[in-house]
Amino acid sequence: MNAIKWNNNELIILDQRKLPLTTSYIKCKSYKTVIDAIYTLSVRGAPLIGIAAAYGMVLAAIESQKLPKSRQKDFIINAGNKLKNTRPTAVNLSLVINKILKLTEKSDLKNIINILLKEATDIDKEDQILCDEIANNGIELFKNKTNLKILTHCNTGSLATQGIGTALGIIKKLNLNKQIKCIYIDETRPLLQGSRLTAYELNNEKVPCKLITDSTAAFILKKEKIDAVIVGADRIASNGDTANKIGTYGLAIAAKFHNIPFYIAAPSSTFDFNLKNGNQIIIEERDSKEIKEYNNKEISPKEIDVYNPAFDVTDNTLITGFITEKEILYPPYDISFLKLK
Ligand code: MRU
Repeated sequence: MNAIKWNNNELIILDQRKLPLTTSYIKCKSYKTVIDAIYTLSVRGAPLIGIAAAYGMVLAAIESQKLPKSRQKDFIINAGNKLKNTRPTAVNLSLVINKILKLTEKSDLKNIINILLKEATDIDKEDQILCDEIANNGIELFKNKTNLKILTHCNTGSLATQGIGTALGIIKKLNLNKQIKCIYIDETRPLLQGSRLTAYELNNEKVPCKLITDSTAAFILKKEKIDAVIVGADRIASNGDTANKIGTYGLAIAAKFHNIPFYIAAPSSTFDFNLKNGNQIIIEERDSKEIKEYNNKEISPKEIDVYNPAFDVTDNTLITGFITEKEILYPPYDISFLKLK
């Protein structure tokens, strides 16, 4: 099944915290269970959390039926605001919720469940198409090239979207075309989306790959003839500054130093034209336990202070281009981004 699935008034979420060792599912019957799944990263990846939240709103609409009519819309609106605040960096979450909140305000209570369900299903289906379009544009960069070596960070595949993925979608298509020699997968500290999830996906799809620690990446860029680094994004500001999983910025600096093209693959919905630059992007900070514990055991001194941002911001000057569903956008971004508006 996909990473999430709507079935009989329930949202079924593949629990990504347990992958790849255990395949188990969380059945969400309330929007609060969806909030919990998003917060704990059972469901993750910018596009996927937007879709999960859309279904979370349908659950809120179903739950609201128990209340007197006069309180139903307030219940749904309150659920939307809570869902929106679960993870602040990925733009998809607020984009989707704001759209559904508007729809809620203008919809007739009688049909609200069906209206919100149709919206969530449309967003879900659209994501699959967007992934394919991004991949089709991305493979054009490597036309007639074989034995490609590409490095990627975090997980941007079928566990982060409802389709083949963004950066990983391009990689999967290149592999189907037999163009890949090796994909280097950053393990992606501290929650290991690379070593648990990307390695799992690429292994399942029989893509030749090698898992490396994040701190090995710069050395590989120096040592191997890497053709490109391709990663995803959580929010892209108007000037091209891009928030993505922590470690992306360092990777981009290393790629620039070694003259290796550095691409961001993302749908146009990840561009936030309300923000002038990356300084305005809110960076989610997560629990210190994610760093201080290993296998649920404390490994650092109890008293030690921790800084644990989930994302960083890569300066636009380090980015060779943005692979979107529409086309590949190159600098100057103030001009090329106009094509997305
Ligand atoms: O904390 P996560 O696992 O949700 O972070 C995911 C990423 O940073 C991805 O690169 C990004 O969301 C794009 S997924 C297509």
